[in-house]
Amino acid sequence: MFGKRTDAPTKPSKPTAPSPAAPTKKPSASVDQLAELEPRSASKPKQKTTRSKSSEPAIAKIDDRSDEYYRVKTMVFNALIDTIDLSQLAQLDAESAREEIRDIVVEIISIKNVVMSISEQESLLEDICNDVLGYGPLEPLLARDDIADIMVNGAGVTYIEVEGRIERTNIRFRDNAQLMNICQRIVSQVGRRVDESSPICDARLLDGSRVNVIAPPLALDGPTLTIRKFKKDKLKLEDLRKFGSISDPGAEILRIIGACRCNVLISGGTGSGKTTLLNSLTAFIDPGERVITCEDAAELQLQQPHVVRLETRPPNLEGTGAVTMRDLVKNCLRMRPDRIIVGEVRGPEAFDLLQAMNTGHDGSMGTLHANSPREALSRVESMITMGGFSLPAKTIREMIVGSIDVVVQATRMRDGSRKIISITEVMGLEGEVIVTQDIMKYEIDGEDSDGKIKGAHRGMGIGRPRFWDRARYYNMERELADALDNLDSGGR
Ligand SMILES: Nc1ncnc2c1ncn2[C@@H]1O[C@H](COP(=O)(O)OP(=O)(O)OP(=O)(O)O)[C@@H](O)[C@H]1O
Ligand SMILES: [Mg+2]
Repeated sequence: MFGKRTDAPTKPSKPTAPSPAAPTKKPSASVDQLAELEPRSASKPKQKTTRSKSSEPAIAKIDDRSDEYYRVKTMVFNALIDTIDLSQLAQLDAESAREEIRDIVVEIISIKNVVMSISEQESLLEDICNDVLGYGPLEPLLARDDIADIMVNGAGVTYIEVEGRIERTNIRFRDNAQLMNICQRIVSQVGRRVDESSPICDARLLDGSRVNVIAPPLALDGPTLTIRKFKKDKLKLEDLRKFGSISDPGAEILRIIGACRCNVLISGGTGSGKTTLLNSLTAFIDPGERVITCEDAAELQLQQPHVVRLETRPPNLEGTGAVTMRDLVKNCLRMRPDRIIVGEVRGPEAFDLLQAMNTGHDGSMGTLHANSPREALSRVESMITMGGFSLPAKTIREMIVGSIDVVVQATRMRDGSRKIISITEVMGLEGEVIVTQDIMKYEIDGEDSDGKIKGAHRGMGIGRPRFWDRARYYNMERELADALDNLDSGGR
């Protein structure tokens, strides 16, 4: 189990490091802290893998330091933890703690006669500070803005997603105890806890990145950490257009949908770009509107001046105090919103969101996990049914067609690119069946020699969508007509 180790900890070398003047003297570090600081063994642990060498995917070399570097680091580390009192160090602010570590490390290096250039010394110092105060081996990954996801599957295996593709890296933790300590450090920053007794935890990094931890005994191969990196510069609709995720007229239609206050559901699989698309659509909200966002982990970054951001809360250790998405959406209605934005609809809050959409909060939006617009609508229906509302199916469907105007479908394609593959409007009920109509669809024409998908966003020949009158009301009729005309007809 985490915290325990099969190999005996390397005994720290005798207190060779001096620093008598340091206020934080002599160890009284907790077992946990010491476990975390246990030096990386010079011989790196063997990677457990059952796959043959030839089927092993390429490993992205993020950490290119030599074994010699780790030998020196281990030695300096040993001397450091023998010298400082970590519990006192924890009471200092980050800057002072860094200074404290810096002074001691510099002294250790000089006493042990380690030959190092200034830049190597700086890099070692940075590394040690990251281990003691920060997120250890995760730091170089967190620093990179091109990484979308970081997936740590136990101490020895870390994957990243870059440009839509998953790559294995050579980043590894000393052992599961160090990884678990870093997980605990992350979740404790937002007042949560993860351990054997509560092994699942959602949290956020200080920079806003979304974090999920699932620990042993539920995760069989060690603590499993998933981070959706927060992009400082959120992608805008303009960027999605440049990436080819949407065509120019398609982007224009989405702009009009956002601006003329259609109620929108954004549907897609995991990591398909739903939140990004939702965020980019909110750019077209009028600055005069009062917008309330409800999220499980705050990811949206609205540019409007009048925004209230709400976040759900998991239950505490006694199992009480949870505030659900439904509680938030219900409460929103008493906060005089113009629009309600729900980060992800996954349960009975679907009912309250539909009600809000139906009762004068036009332009409300939300995302949900589904593979097609049709599936998205039936998921809304089942979320309401499973939420314990004993309403006949027809009534629920009437509510759905009365409230949702447009479903936008996002997908991560097999070449790693993310695309908006359809803009679909909800037309009405025919008998008991919800009728939908595609305005635009992405049609795949094949694949080029680099394995990139070839295709085009094509119009479905709709001259007057159902939200035409709405566009007219907002004086965007002309723009909508032009955008519809400009959609690639694909020879239809
Ligand atoms: N059109 C796009 N082109 C390139 N990258 C994109 C695009 N849309 C989103 N991304 C990137 O993909 C990653 C996942 O996006 P996002 O968080 O929006 O997905 P999601 O569908 O909301 O995921 P989840 O299901 O986990 O909530 C982010 O790093 C984002 O910057
Ligand atoms: Mg999301």
